[in-house]
Amino acid sequence: MKRIIMMSFFGLMLYACNNGQTDKSTDDANKIDMNDRGNEKIPTPGGDPAEYDPNRGAGKFTHVDIGNKLDVAMAAGGEKIYGVKCSGCHKVTDEKLVGPGWLGVTTRYKPEWIMNFITNTNEMLDKDPKAQAQLQICLVRMPNQSLADNDARQLLEFMRKNDGVK
Ligand code: HEC
Repeated sequence: MKRIIMMSFFGLMLYACNNGQTDKSTDDANKIDMNDRGNEKIPTPGGDPAEYDPNRGAGKFTHVDIGNKLDVAMAAGGEKIYGVKCSGCHKVTDEKLVGPGWLGVTTRYKPEWIMNFITNTNEMLDKDPKAQAQLQICLVRMPNQSLADNDARQLLEFMRKNDGVK
């Protein structure tokens, strides 16, 4: 019995170490990649280009599972939140109010980007080139909306509905 426990302990250790190593080697790979571009520096507003993924944005969402079909109940929940927290600044057409109109927003950005932007607005405005471009047009910094993850997911579904997903 003792032996089995020891073995599983080592198994875990190995696993943990491998994990660390995988992360490190991708890090190194990134570095090598950067060097391959020679000494040419690509200026990126707000930080290290190797760290920031403009498709995903900055925040906790790395992959959002959206199906092909609309989740009608979630979209309805999202519409309610929109009415309370977002409609003061966003129209659902392509017209700007305080912020950009939402029409087409789900085709302009990946689901992860949208979820990260609306839950981690401040950091995204500091780092994301597209968000910063909108800030220059709108001249108002979108305040953090303190949305729960589930609120954010429902809002995304409402945006999808608004963009014609059925
Ligand atoms: C006080 C006004 C205000 C409120 C309230 C607000 N926003 Fe914004 N939003 C903005 C502005 C302004 C921008 C453009 C970026 C900037 O200037 O900060 C923006 C940008 C966005 C974008 C990116 C749109 C694009 O096309 O680039 C999304 C998505 C978004 N807001 C979602 C939301 C959601 C969801 C809510 C409600 C929970 C909300 N916003 C509430 C002002 C607001």
